[in-house]
Amino acid sequence: MGYTLQDFCAEIHEILVDENNATGREKVRVKMEKLLANETFVSQFCGPEKKPGVYKLNEDPTTGAVVLSHVMGEGHTSPPHDHGNSWAIYGQATGYTVMTEWDRVDDGSDDEAIEMKETKQYKLDPGQVGLFDVGVIHSIEYPDDARFVRVTGVDLDGIDRKSYNLKHTTVKTIRAESANQG
Ligand SMILES: [Fe+2]
Repeated sequence: MGYTLQDFCAEIHEILVDENNATGREKVRVKMEKLLANETFVSQFCGPEKKPGVYKLNEDPTTGAVVLSHVMGEGHTSPPHDHGNSWAIYGQATGYTVMTEWDRVDDGSDDEAIEMKETKQYKLDPGQVGLFDVGVIHSIEYPDDARFVRVTGVDLDGIDRKSYNLKHTTVKTIRAESANQG
C-alpha cells in the first residue's frame, strides 16, 4: 500500500505543530517526495481518468494547512504572483512545471510602473517537490495534462495575495475568497 495520503497528513500535522517554521516546511517538502513515490496515490488522485480541476484532499483544522491536487487540462503560464503570508509546497505528479521566481526591483511607490526581475528558474519533473516560502513571488508554466499536488500553510482563498502583470507593469491585490490562481 505504501505511504498513503492519510500517513502524509498525519505526519505533516505533527511536523507543523512542532515546527511551524522553515525547518518544518523543509520536512514537509521531503514527506511529499515520499508521498509522490507511491504510484497508487498518484494514479488515484492524479491519474489519466481524473477530470481536470482542483480537488481539496485535506484541510488540517489545527494547523490550517491545506492539501490540494491540481489536475490540469490545457497547458498554461501563470503571471508572477505571491501567496500573501502563506508558504506553498508544489509536488509534481505527472508532466512537468517550470518554476520561475521574481523580485520586484522598483522602489514600490507606483503600482502601475513596476519593474520585475527574474531571480531563479527550475523545472520540476514527476516526483520532485519545490518550496516557495512566505512572500516569494513566482510564476509557473506547465504543458497539457500536467498534474501536481500542493500544500499551503493556510487556505489561500481566505487571504489577500498579489498578482503582477509584466506587460502592463502593474500589480493588483487579489482579495480573499476570489478565484484560486494556482
Ligand atoms: Fe503560486
